Amino acid sequence: MSRITPPDAHSPAPISKGRVRLPHIAAAKRSGTRLTMLTAYDALTAPLLEAAGVDMLLVGDSLGNVMLGHSSTLPVTVEDMERATASVARSTSRALIVADLPFGSYEDGPAHAFASATRLMKAGAHAVKLEGGAPRAHIIRSLVDAGIPVCAHLGYTPQSENTLGGPRMQGRGEAGQAMGADARAVQEAGAFALVLEMVPSTVAARITADLDIPTIGIGAGPDTDGQVLVWSDMAGMSDWTPSFVRRFGELGSALTAAACDYVAAVRDGSFPGEGNFKEQ
Ligand code: KIV
Repeated sequence: MSRITPPDAHSPAPISKGRVRLPHIAAAKRSGTRLTMLTAYDALTAPLLEAAGVDMLLVGDSLGNVMLGHSSTLPVTVEDMERATASVARSTSRALIVADLPFGSYEDGPAHAFASATRLMKAGAHAVKLEGGAPRAHIIRSLVDAGIPVCAHLGYTPQSENTLGGPRMQGRGEAGQAMGADARAVQEAGAFALVLEMVPSTVAARITADLDIPTIGIGAGPDTDGQVLVWSDMAGMSDWTPSFVRRFGELGSALTAAACDYVAAVRDGSFPGEGNFKEQ
């Protein structure tokens, strides 16, 4: 499939000329270069996102909601993640690919996590992401020791939506201190980056200043080292947008408009037209 060339105006200098690797992510934190991450789930859209110069593609378990029609991330399986990771890996060449360990694939301990993470790495991931802080530090440490880079995830962690009471801000008041301790624990365990989701901006700023590894915010304000969005939210694919998302496009209505034109053209006989077919 031929690739889309992004307009120059939309392409700030990439953090790496070749494949983005962990040292480039660490260097971005040191130099204050803001990191970019978008979710990606398939071979059709991942190269379009990569062409924009995004540093990291997250094969998120939001796959469950976005692509599979589930109402949460809980039903997502390692097989689902393996297939999506392989599709993103086959269709891209520059971005660092981070794949989510889905619910139920790592919580039992290091051996459980290693078995799942190796499947995602063999599918083409360059790193895995898992949810949780200090209680998961030993799992992070064992994966890192096995050569598997880990991105941690604190704040609103969708796999725990039933204990957290649904999508809501985490880390208000004293919980902000506890989150700071969790952030330190995952850094000490060897995580290379930390996603902070739905966290007060003051708490995210404090954690970001305290850590040597980059923080990647979503609904965590402007003072993290980078930002991540679900690509379909970013591009305006549906009517609903979380309050912390900016719609950078209106792809949903553009797609429906294109399909409407197609339906009308078939119905009125103007498609296929001259140039769309050959007479034998
Ligand atoms: O699965 C996902 O899309 C995520 C992001 C929201 C960070 O974990």
